[in-house]
Amino acid sequence: MSGAVSNLGKNTDATFIVIIGICAALFALIIALTAYFTLKYRRNKHPLAQDIEGHFFLETTWTVLPVILVMFMFYYGWLGYEKRREVPEDAYTIKAFGQMWVWSFEYGNGMQASTLNLPLGRPVKLILNSRDMIHSLYIPAFRVKQDAVPGMERVLWFTPEVAGTYDLFCAEYCGTGHSRMITKAVVMNDEEFKAWSEGKTEAPAAQEAAPSLSGEGLLKAKGCTACHTTDGKPLVGPTLKGIFGTKVRVTTGGKEREVTVDEEYLRRSELEPASDVVVGFPPIMPPQKGVLKEEEIDAIVDYIKGLK
Ligand code: CUA
Repeated sequence: MSGAVSNLGKNTDATFIVIIGICAALFALIIALTAYFTLKYRRNKHPLAQDIEGHFFLETTWTVLPVILVMFMFYYGWLGYEKRREVPEDAYTIKAFGQMWVWSFEYGNGMQASTLNLPLGRPVKLILNSRDMIHSLYIPAFRVKQDAVPGMERVLWFTPEVAGTYDLFCAEYCGTGHSRMITKAVVMNDEEFKAWSEGKTEAPAAQEAAPSLSGEGLLKAKGCTACHTTDGKPLVGPTLKGIFGTKVRVTTGGKEREVTVDEEYLRRSELEPASDVVVGFPPIMPPQKGVLKEEEIDAIVDYIKGLK
């Protein structure tokens, strides 16, 4: 296990080590005493069992000592917890959205990204939200985890302290694509972050979509590629490669029918995916009505048309 790379993470690591240390010491003590008493008071040495009435000093000791130990562990954990609840006022705010099965992030200046791009050494406040069900944003390297709950805003903050690229997971089982709900947290120094947030560069290891969005960038930023490939291999949903102009069998209102994949069909499938569900695939795509903007839908439709 490598050390934490956020301010809060150091506290988590210290608490973990203190608690593990206490547990290890107690384990050793209990095992040693058990072995000692087992040998010393074994039956052939002490054939006659004795009734003991009680021992005030011993009983007090083994009650008071563990209480002190447990309170000490609680206090240590509490210090870290309190720090997590106090979001600094000058924190850089990013909105994070969980959705089956992708994370997306929105920045104050309208930037959107499918990776969590962060400024080094600055407190960051994440406002977590979910578009469908409970997800959980988890960045092990920062030692932070928080649920994203539909209809509710949850807040998470930390200060990234080492530049680099770190895994970001969903830690709440949320269906078929849960294990693929993975992205990266990218910590950049001031200059890199400024350049990225002004749309001048690509973030390292990021596949972000700037406000002037390409269809391809949108598919990634909006999480479509978690279920739809562009290389011909179906995943949770059908591939998008070469579908334009073909005929597909779909289920519409419980009845199977054949439709031609045209612009009209592609738009409908984005906004209300449940209206026509391609036969052989589960009806699980979240509707994009109110999520995608008009020009974003156009860009995606254009991109799919070009996927020969
Ligand atoms: Cu989202 Cu698991």
